[in-house]
Amino acid sequence: MLKEWSEVYRIGIPEIDEQHQGFFAAAHRLYEAIMDRTGPQTVAEVIAFMRDYAERHFATEEDFMRRHEYQGLREHLVEHSAFFRRLEELEEDLQMFGPSRGLADRALDITQDWLIDHIADEDMLYALHVKAEGREGRRPVAI
Ligand SMILES: [Fe+2]
Repeated sequence: MLKEWSEVYRIGIPEIDEQHQGFFAAAHRLYEAIMDRTGPQTVAEVIAFMRDYAERHFATEEDFMRRHEYQGLREHLVEHSAFFRRLEELEEDLQMFGPSRGLADRALDITQDWLIDHIADEDMLYALHVKAEGREGRRPVAI
C-alpha cells in the first residue's frame, strides 16, 4: 500500500529527513511506473534512478555516522548493502517476467516499507547517538 510521508518518520536531522522524503517519492515513482504498464525499459530507468538516489542518500548517512564515530556503523552498512541486493533481484524479475501487479507490490515492499522499518530500527539509533553526544557536550574528533 502506498503510504504518505509522516512526521513519525522524522529523525530530527534535517538533511537526512529531507532525503528520506525524496526516497519515499522515488519509491512511489517506481511503484507507479510498474502499475502504469509503462514497459520494462521505463521501469528499468526508474529502478536505476532509485538506485542512484539510495547511493547518494546512504553516502550522506554513512559520512554522518563516521563523523560522529557511531559504533553501530558496521551493522548499518550491512542493511544498506542488503537493500541493493534486493533491488537487483527486482530488476532481474523485471527482465524475466516484465512489469506486473506482483512486481509493483514487491517493489513497494523493498523500497517504501523497507525504508519505514529501516528508519525505525536503524536510523533512529544513530540519531539518538548524535543527540546524546550533544547533551554530553562531546564533539567529534577531527582527523
Ligand atoms: Fe540508513
